[in-house]
Amino acid sequence: MEKTFYVTTPIYYVNAEPHIGHAYSTLAADTLNRVYQCLGYATRFQTGTDEHGEKVVQAAHKEGIEPKSYVDRISGLFRQTWSDLDIHPDRFIRTTDADHVRVVTHLLNKVYEAGDIYFSEYEGQYCLGCERFYTDRELVEDLCPDHQTKPTLVKEANYFFRMSAYQDWLIDHIKKNSEFIRPERYRNEVLSFLSEPLEDLCISRPKSRLTWGIPLPFDDRFVTYVWFDALINYLTGLDFPQGDLFPRFWPSVQHIIAKDILKPHGIYWPTMLKAAGVEPYQHLNVHGYWNMDQTKISKSLGNVIRPKDLADRFGIEAVRYFFLREMVFGLDAQFSEEAMIQRINADLANNLGNCFSRSLTMIEKYCQGVVPQTGETGPAEENLKQLARQARETVQLEAQRLAFHKALMSLWELVDEVNKYIDSQAPWALAKDPGKNPRLMTVLYHLAETLYRVSLLLFPFMPRTSLQMRQQLGLEENQGAPEWETGKNGCAIPAGTRIRKGPALFPRIETGNPKPDSTPPSRKAAAVSISETLSLEEFQKWDLRIAKVLSAERVPKSKKLVKMEVDLGEKRTLVAGIGEDYNPEELPGKTIVVVANLEPTKLMGVESRAMLLAARDEGGLKLIVPEEKILPGTRVK
Ligand code: MSP
Repeated sequence: MEKTFYVTTPIYYVNAEPHIGHAYSTLAADTLNRVYQCLGYATRFQTGTDEHGEKVVQAAHKEGIEPKSYVDRISGLFRQTWSDLDIHPDRFIRTTDADHVRVVTHLLNKVYEAGDIYFSEYEGQYCLGCERFYTDRELVEDLCPDHQTKPTLVKEANYFFRMSAYQDWLIDHIKKNSEFIRPERYRNEVLSFLSEPLEDLCISRPKSRLTWGIPLPFDDRFVTYVWFDALINYLTGLDFPQGDLFPRFWPSVQHIIAKDILKPHGIYWPTMLKAAGVEPYQHLNVHGYWNMDQTKISKSLGNVIRPKDLADRFGIEAVRYFFLREMVFGLDAQFSEEAMIQRINADLANNLGNCFSRSLTMIEKYCQGVVPQTGETGPAEENLKQLARQARETVQLEAQRLAFHKALMSLWELVDEVNKYIDSQAPWALAKDPGKNPRLMTVLYHLAETLYRVSLLLFPFMPRTSLQMRQQLGLEENQGAPEWETGKNGCAIPAGTRIRKGPALFPRIETGNPKPDSTPPSRKAAAVSISETLSLEEFQKWDLRIAKVLSAERVPKSKKLVKMEVDLGEKRTLVAGIGEDYNPEELPGKTIVVVANLEPTKLMGVESRAMLLAARDEGGLKLIVPEEKILPGTRVK
């Protein structure tokens, strides 16, 4: 039978630009999706944007534009952000999509016909931020617990979903399915909520108050309340009720959310599904908040960090690693740049990066860059194989439970063991004694094999690094998910494979003082190593120009960075790491060479729109300057 897997993120409100809180849920879903791909499942991954409601209308009016133009813009930003982070969902859904409007209408009719929607008057405390009514019990000192604002007393006639009718069924379902809502703390939270009588759910807004929504099919004076509209996106993405996606993927659906929207997902959604005659989801996976200085990161609190900025600064892979390694799924986590730099330097540059590069260097040095045939193995190799098997089991188990930090910890324990193996076997000593050559080959083979296994297991968490490692190990370029099941690739690296050692996987980041190495990938592309050849066509893409330095000053708090205004036919600002070799005072008037067509990037908050050419030898860094004065802006060929 086909093994299938379907994962969703919340669909994000378009009243805020994407920040790292949104990025985490999307990254967790992407990672889980890749885990299941490695396990041989047919997978489906959906994210998107939630575009109806009063908040959106207000935000659009604030910008003086129509809601549709507004939602198109912000939704586009979300889509772009995921693509920037190398996250490619199978469906990016928008609640303004025509098929979604059809599915919501279908579901409303179904529940209405079943007699579970009725008309009545209601008065309650309404939080505009959450777009929902709060009971007195839920408020904290009369304030919305999420927005810390006072809700408004609203009285109006509306349609209601008879949610209370499904309370007993839901309690029973949660009790019978211990992992329906996980981790357990959130299951308990929902059960505790359900220990009090459940109120029915208001599912409409009068058009007099709100027009930006899906009209109720049975009363066009009303539009659908955001949650009854939004939650249904998970069905729309499978073409519910027709087609073959729904029967194929719905039985294995898992939602990923943060604790802020536990109630709609833990209570409204399963009861809505039950009323519509649809099986409930398989798992609701709930994570905690990313906080900064103990405060939740959110637009309303004004402390957002844009995922793209982090990726530009540290690289996508380091960002993925940090978020997946640092948060214990279910608990809150602290974001700080220092913690991030520390993880990059300790775990990525020192540990994995160093282990990989020293291993490849030894294969280059002692066996001409070709993975050797293994000789007889001993306890040290058996131990390594056993640890690699264990790591694989742990990664499979823990990642499926969303304990990504544990999966990564076990992988890094394996890397530690590889480092210990190198130290204990000392290949450099074996190399000195020709009699020990078979042993040397055995050690080098096992280094390559274990690192290959690490690269396969790393795929869901750091897909690019996994690929880069496999490429450097000289194995087929396979962009997709590696098959983890034994037998397919067996995790063995064939003897005779020619390795292709490349640049370091992760350059170290100097605190508060980024080296040219730690510049974002778009700039790193400029660092072409001499051994790599470049076609003429590729070379012609580089727009090198003569530039004259107009002014120069140090970037505050940085020893290395110097900000310059240059004339390269037009005036540009560039930031260069030359502050330890040049005094800014001596730069104005100099004629230099710059790469003029790199993507702009920010270094310590200053935007750089070109990159200068320089070379370093023992004597220090020297700028590349023309022999004689040339007009600024002249193309260098
Ligand atoms: N539109 C609703 C969801 C409808 S789903 C049918 C919504 N949107 S939201 O834009 O507010 O997104 C909330 C979600 O964004 C959280 O559940 C979580 O996935 C993510 N996060 C937003 N801020 C976050 C943190 N500070 N930390 C962790 N996740 C965060 O609610």
